[in-house]
Parts: sequence; structure tokens; C-alpha cells
Amino acid sequence: MLRKTPMDRRAFLTALAATSLATLTPEAVLAASAAANPAWAPAVGDIEADLAPRSLKLVHGKAPRGLAGTLYRNGPAKFRRGAGPNATHWFDGDGLVRAFRIRDGRAGLAGRFVDTFKRRQDEQFGAMVGAGFASTARPGATVRSADDSNAANTALLAIGGELLALWEQGSPYAMDPDTLATKGPKTYRPDLAHMPFLAHPRIEPNGRVWNLGVAGKAALVWTLNADGRLEKAQMIALPRASYIHDFTATARHLVIVLQPWVQDKAVMPFVDSMSWRPEMGTQVLVVDKDDLTRRRLFDLPPFFVFHLGDAWEEADGTIRFDACIEQDAGFATIGARELIALKTPKMATTALAMITLGADGKGRLETTPLRAEFPRADARFAGSGRSRTIVNTIGGGPGKPFLQGVAVSDWRTGKADVFDFGPDHCAEEMLFVPRPGSGRELDGWLVGTSLNLKARATELHVFDAGHVADGPVCSWRSDVALPVGFHGAWI
Ligand SMILES: [Fe+2]
Repeated sequence: MLRKTPMDRRAFLTALAATSLATLTPEAVLAASAAANPAWAPAVGDIEADLAPRSLKLVHGKAPRGLAGTLYRNGPAKFRRGAGPNATHWFDGDGLVRAFRIRDGRAGLAGRFVDTFKRRQDEQFGAMVGAGFASTARPGATVRSADDSNAANTALLAIGGELLALWEQGSPYAMDPDTLATKGPKTYRPDLAHMPFLAHPRIEPNGRVWNLGVAGKAALVWTLNADGRLEKAQMIALPRASYIHDFTATARHLVIVLQPWVQDKAVMPFVDSMSWRPEMGTQVLVVDKDDLTRRRLFDLPPFFVFHLGDAWEEADGTIRFDACIEQDAGFATIGARELIALKTPKMATTALAMITLGADGKGRLETTPLRAEFPRADARFAGSGRSRTIVNTIGGGPGKPFLQGVAVSDWRTGKADVFDFGPDHCAEEMLFVPRPGSGRELDGWLVGTSLNLKARATELHVFDAGHVADGPVCSWRSDVALPVGFHGAWI
């Protein structure tokens, strides 16, 4: 068992500032990239203003009876301003929250940028001046806390009557789910202002939320109740300063994957402070939710990871979860910069893998041939046994660096139920929506979007989750091509 190392708030914030905000250095100039606009350029294009509510046109099928609600999605949608400087990395654009509302067989769309301090400041300067994942603050930019760099562009958490736009190194930004008006950064307690809050909280079926905020070798463990109020905020020490975008959880344990992309330099921007160190292997830290000092550590081969699936625990204590793994950190460091520069990027081949943490203390990694990113599952089974994982799949080569299909992979059979939108589409994350009255795993619909490059329009699709290969049950088309986003929430 590892010893818990106490770390006070001042030391934690100092560590955070040192890694993300402090130094002002010139950055590499963007290549004159627009010369050869690839066909996929709209996937990382700029949206100039909020999207007024509009109807979507039904282009295929018929909306299933019983499906009603709103798919909210977040993602960067403004990267370039005037003569620049501009964002130089996919993760540094302004967060645009999109609401796809489905009612009475019809669908509509509205979108508003999260009204962050960063966006206001950049607008004032007519350039991107704040710090970011791969950006250094410019002279004259205000840098008081991580929230001055907060792009609120990664994911959404619907809780307590609010929609929280999530980033990674700063506070959630609260929004009104009806109007998409920004209320402002969320402070759960005065001493927790500006603390990091990951974009991937884990939600128990009873509504309790667990999340991490990470700075170097320390993590703040957030617990919110189902109403969105703070239950606890506890600091834990981590064995190494890995990049942590996501973690997972069983009903009883937090499961924290510590990949060998580690922060070992105090340089700016943040992404340049990390080094790929495969010789360190990957570690997985398992922490008891009821007593964060009770911990176990597992060893795995080296891999890079952004996203994990929900974990579960078997009767003998064996923990299992899936992960979308890459060979190295090349996409995070280089590929996502080349993407914004509209160059053929260094693309990762992301594969679905199953990780087993045995009751005997041994870790095991089994990689499948299924290309996969943006894993989701039936949220009613979060933390308990499940067999299926929803992912984007197919494509993602240098010619078009975005996936174009949807799959439901079944761990029991080893088979995947796959649909390919074709090379004209950039598929986005699909969320599961249960059929009313059903409690069976994945009995319901997948709801998600794609960017149709040929039609130059974002589309909204509904699949029967049990028959993905049959294609969408219905599809609507908007009148706007939105850049490819990251994560969403269904209400
Ligand atoms: Fe993510």
C-alpha cells in the first residue's frame, strides 16, 4: 500500500501554475498552411458567431417514437483570429456548445460559445493571447489563474439544473441548458476556486459524481452528489506526473491509468513539458472510494491513452475496463498541431483494448484489431458488469484524419456491430439513450452527429443500438458545417 502524501492548496496551485501558466515565451509560427486546403478542412474550421435556433431537415427515415430530449455537444470551434497569432493545437479552440433538440419527430439546433474570460480577452486583442494546452500566454495577456486560460471546450456534465462545460485544468463553466447562456466558472467552495476539474467525470447510476483535478504528482478527488453539490474534495498523491485526460471507476474503486507520457520539465506550453518515456511502462492506481489511503498499483506495458470505458469488478475482485490506446504520444504532441495547420497529420492508430487488473495483483492488456475512439456505454451499468462499448471506428488515415463509422463492440462474443458513413463523413461521439421502460443493456438508441464534408453540413443521426449495421433509423441535416467536436451529454 502506498503512503498518502499530504499537499496543501497553495503547493497544489503553485505546481499547477508552474506547469501551465507561468512563463512567457515566443511560440512556433504557424506554417502558411491554408495554401492547400484539404477536403477535411471544415472539421477544424472557424465558427464566427453563436448559432440561432434553427430546424434540421429530415433526410432519411423517421424518428423513433419515444425518443425525446436534447443532445448537447461541446468542442473547439474558433481557432483563428485576424492576423493571429492563432491556436496552434486542436485542443486550444473556443468551446462551442451545440444543442440538438429532438421532439415530436422533429429536430432543431442551436449553439453558443462558452463566454469564457479567455474568449473575451482574445476577442479584445483580435488574436489568441491566452495560454492553452499548446499555447503560451502573450505579453499583455492577463494570467491570474488557470481559469484565465480555460477554453471550456471539451465535454459537458448536466447536473443540478445546469450544464457544465468542462475543460481540464480549470473550473467547470456553468451554462443554462435552455438558453445556453454562460453563468460563469463554478466555485464549489472558496478555497477550491480555479482548481482543475477533468473533462471526464464518472457518474454512478445513483447520480453521484467522481472526478479528478490533476497537477503533476497530485490529484484532487472531487465528489459531487446527484444534485451537483460538493460532497468532498480530497487530495491524493500520484506515483508519477502522468498526463491524465480520463480515469475510470467501479462501484467501489477509482481506477487511474498512469501512462508513460510524464511531465518532467518546467517549460511552456503545457504540452512541451511532457515526455514520452515508454521504458517506464504504464501503471494503474486503484483507490478505494471509501478510504483514499487504501491503494493498489498494477503494471502494464507502455501505451498512450486519452479515453477509458466504465470499469467493473468481478466477484473475486478482478477489475476490467476498456481503453482506446495508441502507440505513443505523437498525436497529442504533433498530430493535433498539424491538424490545425491543415497539414497531413501524424495520425495515431487508436485501437480498442481490454485491461484486466487481476485479484493476483497482475495487470493484463489485450488489444483488439478494432480501430476505436470516443468510447461510451450504457450509463445505467456504470461501475457494474456490462458487455458492450460504443465507439467511433473506421478510417482515420492520413488522407482524412477523422473516423467515419460507428461500432458497438461486444466483449463476450468478440464481435462488433459496425456502420460506415463513408469517406465523406467525420463521425462524432455517439451517446446511448435508453428506450423508455427498458432496463436491458443497450436496449435503446445511439444518438450522435457527423460532419458531412460533401454536403458541407453537420448531421444528426439516430441508430437502434441493437442494429447498428442497418444504418441510422433517421438522419437530419443542418444548414451549417460545424467543426468536429469532442464530447456530449443527453438530457
Ligand atoms: Fe476526452
